[in-house]
Amino acid sequence: MANVVVVGAQFGDEGKAKVTDLLANNADIVVRYQGGANAGHTVVVGDETYKFHLIPSGILYPGKICVLGPGMVIDPKAFIKEVKGLTDRGLDDSRLKVSSSAHVTMPYHMALDAAEEESRGDNKIGTTKRGIGPTYADKCARSGIRMEDLLDREVLKEKLDWMVPRKNVLLERMYNHPPFDAAAILEEYAEYGRQMSKYVCDTSQLIFNAVREKKNILFEGAQGTMLDLDHGSYPYVTSSSPSAGGACTGTGVGPTIIDRVIGISKAYMTRVGEGPFPTEQDGDIGEMLRQTGKAWAEVGVTTGRPRRCGWFDTVIGRYSVRVNGLDCLAITKLDVLDEFDEIQICVAYRDKTDGTIHKELPSMFSKFKQMEPIYKSFPGWKKPTYKIKNYKELPAEARRYLDFIAEELDCPVAIVSVGPTRDKTVVIEDPIHGPKRVLTQAVNP
Ligand code: GDP
Ligand code: IMO
Ligand code: MG
Repeated sequence: MANVVVVGAQFGDEGKAKVTDLLANNADIVVRYQGGANAGHTVVVGDETYKFHLIPSGILYPGKICVLGPGMVIDPKAFIKEVKGLTDRGLDDSRLKVSSSAHVTMPYHMALDAAEEESRGDNKIGTTKRGIGPTYADKCARSGIRMEDLLDREVLKEKLDWMVPRKNVLLERMYNHPPFDAAAILEEYAEYGRQMSKYVCDTSQLIFNAVREKKNILFEGAQGTMLDLDHGSYPYVTSSSPSAGGACTGTGVGPTIIDRVIGISKAYMTRVGEGPFPTEQDGDIGEMLRQTGKAWAEVGVTTGRPRRCGWFDTVIGRYSVRVNGLDCLAITKLDVLDEFDEIQICVAYRDKTDGTIHKELPSMFSKFKQMEPIYKSFPGWKKPTYKIKNYKELPAEARRYLDFIAEELDCPVAIVSVGPTRDKTVVIEDPIHGPKRVLTQAVNP
């Protein structure tokens, strides 16, 4: 029995869904613990490609229960559309469970997200405009609408009658946006509640019962550590807790039930939206990494925006190992580096203002912006890796590259992904049952 968290160790889009799908085979329940329809998760099974925004990536394995946890924010319209897309393809939706405590993204949240972004001008965050920030803001202000409220017309009406006029003042006066009609929202969202009622339940109890029955729970993170509201590159973050700690608060289970935390990183790095990205490559290298035209091209799944691309950054990697307590890493998209003559890895930052060298991420975010990467260069392997099934068959240069990442991050690489499908995976050690990571003793504690 093992309860495992899969967490993005970079800026999101690390290939979490591929790894979640792979590991879901061993799980009984797959639960998403944060975020909303801002996520874009791709799973490729044979010739079929699935893109998930709200639904956990474990849904493709028959018989697995998939939970949308209380830490999520759910756009009911997007949820219903996504479920329809899956049932049209023959998937069984009776395995889907939605927490009654998850918050609901309302139309005024999406309008505010867009309006606030517009008003920020050059300081925009580059959000997905899915209403994520405003939904979580209402949750924290204790005036949000939860899934349970969608199921009770009287409560929904009371909440909307209080909330909509207040949002309208903000939208009309600050942003010149036409007002919303509370009565029309009530009709539309009560109907969504009716359609979703069959999925809504106490998911914390469901997971606790499963844990007592020694079932295996897989916690699927969305976004990534550097987009974490508390631990990421604030304010260029999302409004939830993608890092591993969020798996507990976002599902209602205690930390003692979690056995493993697996961090997912690309063999290089990408970011969508604004914010610092020290190893970003603007020119030909960025273009080569972007893989334009390929099925796995670096283009946002949710917004279609081209992703910013750059070299692997061990400073960020070490930080992710620390704040998530990673047991091991899955390195994805190694195959994208197959054609490079030379590959760089950022081993430390140099502060442009005073020349100091930093192996760890600066604690003051304001300093993050003034850091320039110091690179170590690796020869490319210039051979295709997508057919390789075990570690020893990987080109020596590729093994050297992976070993270097593991050493620098002080975290073993358990899985290497060399293509989008399940079979294009090299398992170095069992990420769930293999040896548990022991922290290297500090020399000068
Ligand atoms: P997620 O948000 O972390 O689940 O990742 P995305 O789905 O947004 O982006 C990952 C992209 O890379 C998708 O198109 C995947 O199909 C693809 N992908 C995942 N692993 C690999 C890999 O090892 N090699 C290649 N070429 N593509 C991969
Ligand atoms: P997955 O789960 C990559 C980014 C946005 C923006 C910032 C805030 O597929 O890895 P938001 O809409 O959340 O308020 O936007 O976060 N962002 C993501 N980037 N992958 C994601 O999800 C993301 N979800 C949000 O681009 O910079
Ligand atoms: Mg994604």
